[in-house]
Amino acid sequence: MTDKKTMIEERVNTGLRGQWYPVAKSVEIRKDHPYGTALLGEKIVLWRDETGAIKCIEDFCPHRGAPLSYGKIHDGNIGCRYHGVIVDGEGVVQRVPAMPECALEGRKALNHFETCEHFDAVFVYVPSVDQPDAPEFTLPKEFTDDAWAGFLCTAVWDCNYRYALDNLADPMHGCYLHAESFTLAFGSKQDLLELNKTEDGFRVSRLGQTGENFDWTEFEVHPGGMFCFLDIPYPKAAGPGGVFRIIGFVSPMGPLKTKVFFWRMRQVEGFAADSWRFLYRAKMEQTHWDVLEQDRVMLEGMPDDARKREMLYQHDLGVSRLRQILTRAAKKQIDSEEKASAE
Ligand code: FES
Ligand SMILES: [Fe+2]
Repeated sequence: MTDKKTMIEERVNTGLRGQWYPVAKSVEIRKDHPYGTALLGEKIVLWRDETGAIKCIEDFCPHRGAPLSYGKIHDGNIGCRYHGVIVDGEGVVQRVPAMPECALEGRKALNHFETCEHFDAVFVYVPSVDQPDAPEFTLPKEFTDDAWAGFLCTAVWDCNYRYALDNLADPMHGCYLHAESFTLAFGSKQDLLELNKTEDGFRVSRLGQTGENFDWTEFEVHPGGMFCFLDIPYPKAAGPGGVFRIIGFVSPMGPLKTKVFFWRMRQVEGFAADSWRFLYRAKMEQTHWDVLEQDRVMLEGMPDDARKREMLYQHDLGVSRLRQILTRAAKKQIDSEEKASAE
């Protein structure tokens, strides 16, 4: 039997349940073609029915296990490419076209997942024993405020999601890893950090500088989801508006696969928003991809068990706090699962 500590560590590595995770851009989920992906190591498939509502079920054909995402959409349901079995958005077999009056018809065969759509992204809820139904999803406040405009950029990285989160909780890497970049090259290379509790999470900040570079990062931890945000001073030459705010969500796809979702936001309205969007696309987008590539290459290069040998120092306050939050939440989930299975 696996001991409790190992189970908790495994849960943290797989990803917490009871969370909303972004899985795709809204435009990627279509009425005419299924979208296959993975979340917490499980394959899922998404599509839209005739009304545009998003459906999400396990990517596994109830007949023999073929990926449904290789199939086709028929009248709002998904048809398997292998032998044609048709499954609806609740995971119920609707039709077995190859076999008249087949007993599989009408059977609930697959799990389905709740979904929602915000600011150009599709989110999927992964249920937990404590929260089988999705709790209200607390969004970043910029998503519901018209004063903010932005772009969503996503990427898949071949590393455990924890590295992507650790990286976001670590402002000091900015002036080293990204020292050559257009917006992150400023500021001193030595500092102390401080950690402060906030209403919904924590903020880790550099003591020696504010408003110069990637000086702080803040995590919000809510009952159904976690995200972070940080500000980067914006070069005047790149258009109107205030600071550049990055809002980050990290979705664990599998043990060594992570999808990162970064919204690049600015407070700009009306005409200024249009002109910023144009200038961003023309001048800034590539430089931000370059920065993300630096992060990707670094994180993918680290061994997956680096944690066993690392030697943290003062600057890793945010990393430690984040791990504590994940570990506590994982322990709570495992306790509840054990209790539920004993009942
Ligand atoms: S495996 Fe899907 S129909 Fe046979
Ligand atoms: Fe970075």
